[in-house]
Amino acid sequence: MKVLEIEHITKKAGRRTLVDDMSFDILQGDVCGFVGPNGAGKTTLIRMITGLIRPEDGNIRIEGFDVQRDRMKALAQVGAIVESPIFFPYMSGQDNLLNLVKLHANIPKEQRAPRVDEVLRIVGLEARGKDKVKTYSLGMKQRLGIAQALLGNPKLIILDEPANGLDPMGIRELRNLILELNAKHGITFFVSSHLLDELQRICSRFVIIKEGKLVWQGTQEQWQQIAGSISLEDHFVEMMTS
Ligand SMILES: Nc1ncnc2c1ncn2[C@@H]1O[C@H](COP(=O)(O)OP(=O)(O)OP(=O)(O)O)[C@@H](O)[C@H]1O
Ligand SMILES: [Mg+2]
Repeated sequence: MKVLEIEHITKKAGRRTLVDDMSFDILQGDVCGFVGPNGAGKTTLIRMITGLIRPEDGNIRIEGFDVQRDRMKALAQVGAIVESPIFFPYMSGQDNLLNLVKLHANIPKEQRAPRVDEVLRIVGLEARGKDKVKTYSLGMKQRLGIAQALLGNPKLIILDEPANGLDPMGIRELRNLILELNAKHGITFFVSSHLLDELQRICSRFVIIKEGKLVWQGTQEQWQQIAGSISLEDHFVEMMTS
């Protein structure tokens, strides 16, 4: 079952091609690592998947719904943190989410507060939910971002460099949260990161891009067959310089 289908996607800015005829699929249950050097086009593609910008060419489908033609249904299947999540610092985490949950038309009014409490519990913020966001650590803000992404009960969660700025404990918590949401709630993940060792630990699939083009995509098993004991990082450096 395909959760995300990227089909011949091209994005241009003036005469520059930022994403060039890119195609790949992500399957139900995957934790997919999305890697590529700075400026490769990761955030640009993620912004297209989440409907923030439009491709010049190609189709993106989420759970079979086309992001351009069936926008509401497609975007209802996905939760995302693109760039750092923005919360009101003088409001509590809970109140921030109570505001954001109103954007989900499919959640009835009386279920808003219970849903907010539920996602706070899932990400382990129930004890701090009533504290102002400005008192949160970066790792807590990141978890609040994931709580926000979970509100609409998405099939797919997209995270753009979620580990940025996190300390080793924060990275470990994030890793465990992703793996738990994947295993217990069946959520598929698409995660961009420059932390290749970290991705190699959690990902069942990789998509590697360079200068807007797909370089390699496949499963962790396929990766190990071609890479053997060479780490993702070493192979990555080789791919990018060859
Ligand atoms: N609106 C825009 N207009 C023109 N060029 C853009 C625009 N947005 C992004 N770019 C360019 O597109 C290229 C890809 O940028 P993008 O942010 O997608 O890369 P990235 O893979 O996310 O990089 P990083 O790892 O640094 O986050 C870069 O060269 C960037 O300068
Ligand atoms: Mg980026």
